[in-house]
Amino acid sequence: MNISVIGAGSMGSGIAQVAAQSGAKVLLIDKFPNAIDKAKQKHQKIFNRLVEKGKWSVAERQKVVDNIHYQTDFSNIENCSFVIEAIIENVEIKKSLFQELEALVSEDCIIASNTSSLSMASLAASLKNPARCIGVHFFNPAPLMKLVEIIPAIQTSEAIKNQTLELIKSWGKITVLAKDTPGFIVNRVARPFYGEALRIYEEGFADVATIDFAMTEIGGFRMGPFTLMDYIGNDINYTVTETVFKAFYYDERYKPAFTQKRLSEAGFLGRKTGKGYYDYNESAIKPDSKKDPELLEHIFWRILVMLINEAADALYLNIASKEDIDLAMTKGVNYPKGLLQWADEKGIAHCVETLDRLFDEYHETRYRCSPLLRKMKRDGTTFYN
Ligand SMILES: NC(=O)c1ccc[n+]([C@@H]2O[C@H](COP(=O)([O-])OP(=O)(O)OC[C@H]3O[C@@H](n4cnc5c(N)ncnc54)[C@H](O)[C@@H]3O)[C@@H](O)[C@H]2O)c1
Repeated sequence: MNISVIGAGSMGSGIAQVAAQSGAKVLLIDKFPNAIDKAKQKHQKIFNRLVEKGKWSVAERQKVVDNIHYQTDFSNIENCSFVIEAIIENVEIKKSLFQELEALVSEDCIIASNTSSLSMASLAASLKNPARCIGVHFFNPAPLMKLVEIIPAIQTSEAIKNQTLELIKSWGKITVLAKDTPGFIVNRVARPFYGEALRIYEEGFADVATIDFAMTEIGGFRMGPFTLMDYIGNDINYTVTETVFKAFYYDERYKPAFTQKRLSEAGFLGRKTGKGYYDYNESAIKPDSKKDPELLEHIFWRILVMLINEAADALYLNIASKEDIDLAMTKGVNYPKGLLQWADEKGIAHCVETLDRLFDEYHETRYRCSPLLRKMKRDGTTFYN
């Protein structure tokens, strides 16, 4: 199969690797020659390391190398049956690329986008045949992260949706279907992981090290929220939060925090600048967390119940199936457990009571309980039994 990846940055180079490993012939295209050079060098380094570690044979490496063709123009793109763009996150630039592509590719070529935040309906609308357009959202780093969110636009045909699902699965990925709404599944459901942690911190309830410790030690998350925000970059995380907040018509649930805005304005962006919530200088002393079990349990449960509420609301609003919501969080962001499964284990009534107690305390719609959880409590049902 011939496929084409447009944009050879972090995501595009990773997607090209995934496809090439599965035997597809890939054109990796970037309009900037230095981006192509960087992608090529990055690939060489990764592929050589895989051979050194014994994960690939020399012949396997050669097969993948032969499968990727690096270029700065669109030559031979007419032979591709699947094209995915991973260029800059800008709706106008992506739309104009789509129009350029549609004039070059064959009539039955699927035109996909790796966008994290743009509306697929608006991207599809730029095409003469919007039925061939679909969102295919990989996670970073694409070769290692198993999950891919598939987002049909309202214009996408059923046949294109099914062909895309089949193709991405054939690349060894786990697919979930998501409705074309802001943040799709993962970037929507995960908001409280950051937002509620920031709120607890702003209230002076606990310091960042204690909140992180609660989530890793009690919750079993791989990273605490502040460590993760420093890793992602506070500028990037703040922009995503602000974008989601606006996209949801200023729903209080997604309201950004001043703490993060100020850190971002100050240039305390996290690991990449050596300072964020934590100090990454070699001489810095890592702050210790409080070890009070009651406090840790309280922090963990307040963040978890907000995540569960978000997952339940995503199901209530038909963003995805319950299985796909749980898969998305465990495979896309490595949560230790699916949130709806966790809700069953903690008890639906316990979730509703906690959310109602928070709402009574704050009188903010941010803490409103999902109607689905409330109905389930009334009916005595669970998500999985
Ligand atoms: N970085 C992530 O964690 C992540 C995760 C999932 C999805 N995404 C999405 O993937 C896309 C790419 O993100 P990234 O992090 O790889 O960005 P990046 O900046 O690393 O790479 C973008 C590449 O696109 C190239 N480019 C820009 N305009 C182009 C054009 N008109 N034609 C051809 N090439 C062009 C740039 O030269 C650059 O190499 C974005 O839509 C982003 O939202 C990113």
